[in-house]
Amino acid sequence: MANKKQEELLKLKEHLRQGGGEKAIQKQHENGKQTARERLEKLFDAGSFVEMGLFVKHRCQNFGMEKKEAPGEGVVTGYGTINGRLVYAAAQDFTVIGGSLGEMHAAKIAMAQEAALKVGAPMICINDSGGARIQEGVDALGGYGRIFYNNTKASGVIPQISVIMGPCAGGAVYSPALTDFIFMVKGVSQMFITGPQVIAAVTGEQVTAEELGGSMAHNSISGCAHFNADTEDECIAQIRELLSYLPQNNLDSVPAYACTDDLNREDESLNDIVPESPNKAYDMMTVIKTIADNGEVMEYQKYYAPNIITCFIRLNGKSIGVIANQPKAMAGCLDINASDKASRFIRTCDAFNIPLLTLEDVPGFLPGTQQEHGGIIRHGAKMLYAYSEATVPKVTLITRKAYGGAYIGMCSKHLGADVVFAWPGSEIAVMGAEGAANIIFSNEIKNADNPAQKRKEKIAEYQDTMMNPFIAAEHGYVDDIIMPSESRKRLISAFESLEGKRVDKPLKKHGNIPL
Ligand code: HXC
Repeated sequence: MANKKQEELLKLKEHLRQGGGEKAIQKQHENGKQTARERLEKLFDAGSFVEMGLFVKHRCQNFGMEKKEAPGEGVVTGYGTINGRLVYAAAQDFTVIGGSLGEMHAAKIAMAQEAALKVGAPMICINDSGGARIQEGVDALGGYGRIFYNNTKASGVIPQISVIMGPCAGGAVYSPALTDFIFMVKGVSQMFITGPQVIAAVTGEQVTAEELGGSMAHNSISGCAHFNADTEDECIAQIRELLSYLPQNNLDSVPAYACTDDLNREDESLNDIVPESPNKAYDMMTVIKTIADNGEVMEYQKYYAPNIITCFIRLNGKSIGVIANQPKAMAGCLDINASDKASRFIRTCDAFNIPLLTLEDVPGFLPGTQQEHGGIIRHGAKMLYAYSEATVPKVTLITRKAYGGAYIGMCSKHLGADVVFAWPGSEIAVMGAEGAANIIFSNEIKNADNPAQKRKEKIAEYQDTMMNPFIAAEHGYVDDIIMPSESRKRLISAFESLEGKRVDKPLKKHGNIPL
């Protein structure tokens, strides 16, 4: 039996856990959103979430705030397990003063971040907030600053995941932007620096919040988000899935699951997947699924720069980060957005000890003034930097084209690939046969009796001489030319052989990646 003090405690806790109360909870539900506690309940393993800081109160005395109660200070923080592993979280409670962030609200988030960093566990922040608590002025801004500082300090140490499940506006967007993964939900999430009303007032442009900063705006146009879900529940399932690929921190190795797929499985369909004509496309995702354990793939930035695929798979039960040109989109060429997407993914994997598999079929960098003036030199350099800098095991499989600078950029031996395989039909060259023949045989073609016929002959000659993987293999840039059907087993064995990889790097403060 509880005594009076204990009963009072239980009553108070019960009251605080109601957040903004029945009416506000109902409004939240009517807006198609779950409450902070409902979200955490689903995100964590059943009954495992432990709330901390329930009694924290704001100290604001302005504009009647001294009389305003804010249960839990508008944010629920704590820890629990996801798939049996420790994870910290903060979920903003929109039912309490619109989830607005004041000094003590920020302090709760910061304390959760600091606890996660101290013990080396992932940190998830669910954003659903009207932004800086206007009554608190600079104290609210200071709170954001503390969170951004912690985001940066924890970067590359623990996985940081941001979930946008409501408004996230103004400078508030910079905490998610500093984290490793951003999840958004269609029709629920909104993220922008300045909202539609400000835009209309300043520029006259009319745009809805969803068009401006909804899930698909950031998943497919800006590239600020990494995962899109149709519902909050789907989003939560995606977060749990992502965590299954990640280690707890940078000193931990990736989780290893018992592999239920045959390690020596061969697939004859891969022998026919590349079309005869070099100008015809095929779906690189089919290759990835054929190689992966049980065909399981989790795509990162699925809707952004579709000319390059970035995804997590498992080989022999262990996580692998895949970077693959997609011939089905823009012939798989590299452009500014693809370079940014791949570079960020490579660095995320390297930070968290996830080995890299590169599947290459790349005709080169996208030509044009838009790309040149947009800074393709700077953006493309990020890929070279990210691959060269990565110390995790790196295995490259060339499936068809590997031309020019893009050949080097897609994790060639020269950038530190540990093992490079090529399929027999690969074309490793400075450029395609047609372009090459037009340049180096231009006089011969021009002066021939039948220039068109001559051009054809010269293209065929260049094709036969140069467009194959054997020269690269003879020079040691390709370790083996393999049958497509045996790709899975050869890749598994390559990654297994690299498990003990260690790299000594020169001491430096930090490198200077071209941003
Ligand atoms: C204080 C806030 C608040 C805020 C919402 N509320 N945002 N209180 N500071 N920033 C309060 C409302 O007054 C209301 O209180 C309750 O939360 C619920 O809000 P509603 O407006 O009723 O909800 P809804 O209609 O769903 O609209 C949500 C909203 C809107 C679109 C987010 O509240 C809104 O526009 N809020 C202000 C957004 C904003 O300009 N924020 C500052 C951004 S600048 P009551 O008592 O009526 O229930 C910023 C700088 C950060 O954040 C810089 C960091 C570096």
